[in-house]
Amino acid sequence: MRLAFVVLLAASTASAAPAIISIGNDALPTTVAAAHHGLGLLDRERDASVVVVDDADLPEISEEMHHAFHRCGGMIQSPSLDEALHPIQLRSTAVDYTLDHAAAVDAVLPQMKATTIAKTIGELSAMQNRYYKSASGAEASNWLAERWRSFATRPGVTVQLVDHGYPQKSVVLTIPGTTRAGEVIVIGGHLDSIAMGGLSANAPGADDDASGIATLTEIARVLLANDYRPERTIKFIAYEAEEVGLLGSQAIVRDFKRANTNVVGALQLDMTNYRGSNKDIWLMKDFTSAAQNAFLVKLIEAYTGATWGMDACGYACSDHASWTRAGVPASMPFESRMADRNKHIHTGKDTLALSNGEATHALAFARLGVAYAIELGKGELGEHDSHQLWQLLALGLLGAAGLLSRRAS
Ligand code: BES
Ligand code: ZN
Repeated sequence: MRLAFVVLLAASTASAAPAIISIGNDALPTTVAAAHHGLGLLDRERDASVVVVDDADLPEISEEMHHAFHRCGGMIQSPSLDEALHPIQLRSTAVDYTLDHAAAVDAVLPQMKATTIAKTIGELSAMQNRYYKSASGAEASNWLAERWRSFATRPGVTVQLVDHGYPQKSVVLTIPGTTRAGEVIVIGGHLDSIAMGGLSANAPGADDDASGIATLTEIARVLLANDYRPERTIKFIAYEAEEVGLLGSQAIVRDFKRANTNVVGALQLDMTNYRGSNKDIWLMKDFTSAAQNAFLVKLIEAYTGATWGMDACGYACSDHASWTRAGVPASMPFESRMADRNKHIHTGKDTLALSNGEATHALAFARLGVAYAIELGKGELGEHDSHQLWQLLALGLLGAAGLLSRRAS
């Protein structure tokens, strides 16, 4: 049961810019100590509390949290107390998790390339930073939208920049469903990066989370190159502002609520290219759906050739938590055990060089993501590839005919 009471822990919180955050109770003392402008406890449950702090204290709270817990904030920022206490609930109808589209999955898997993923990570991490308030962060949204638009070769497939009130925008690529368009599948990752120094920091974020965005990009590229037509609608989402409290994914949830969107599943790809442990894919058990995770295990075993294990973040570590809060089955396949995680994230050292300039580890996640899209989206690949085959065959025949006629003469 929730203890619904309001206590002011420290001095006045009548700040110009209050920020409402949900935080683990274990992290509460650290937060109090770092909140120099005061802190108000608004609500306390068994594991987590909702507090109000001054916006200006957020960077130091994050920093102290990093020291004390080796995590970087771990706090969900809410626009209002009401939303913090009563998370938005989305419509989400239950789905059957079946594996019956092996022909389509097997046709696209060989087309996925680690080199393409590595190139995208290189391009994204070459930007100064992708901070949600910076000019380069805004530019990253435009850059990605343009890349995704280059894949959208048939009418109906759309790429949108979604404005949540910051310079950086979320980017959404939609492949509309054919027969069950009202059931939406979300495959996401966060576009923003962060490091000390905020707006002007050098924050390459190659692993966190250019790797996830590059993995998404490869999945979308291959699906659209094969003219894939899912029964259910698939949305690829690059969220803005994850690093400051899951702002982008929560804003998307709010938009979906307004549109009464039915979201049947969400997959989060946040950090896919650093092989820190002895197995490839680690499914985070907390803030995720056990049923959808069991489906992912089947997909990993059937299609990826990757090894896997289960682990936990220990807190709402990424955007999957926004979907879980909203009542949508969500999963977070992760690159290593938590204990073996990449220690260079949120610094200038989070570069592709740390993964030898390669994206072989991320490729396993791209394979999983494409299998998830097709086995949950159902539907068919288009004629595109068979057309190309016919063209090749025709060229071959012409060539052979030419050879024969030259011989004959
Ligand atoms: N990619 C990280 C989450 C992560 C880091 C998961 C290391 C597992 C191991 C994410 O971008 C992040 O930094 N999240 C914040 C929490 C968020 C709610 C602000 C964090 O880890 O503190
Ligand atoms: Zn991060």
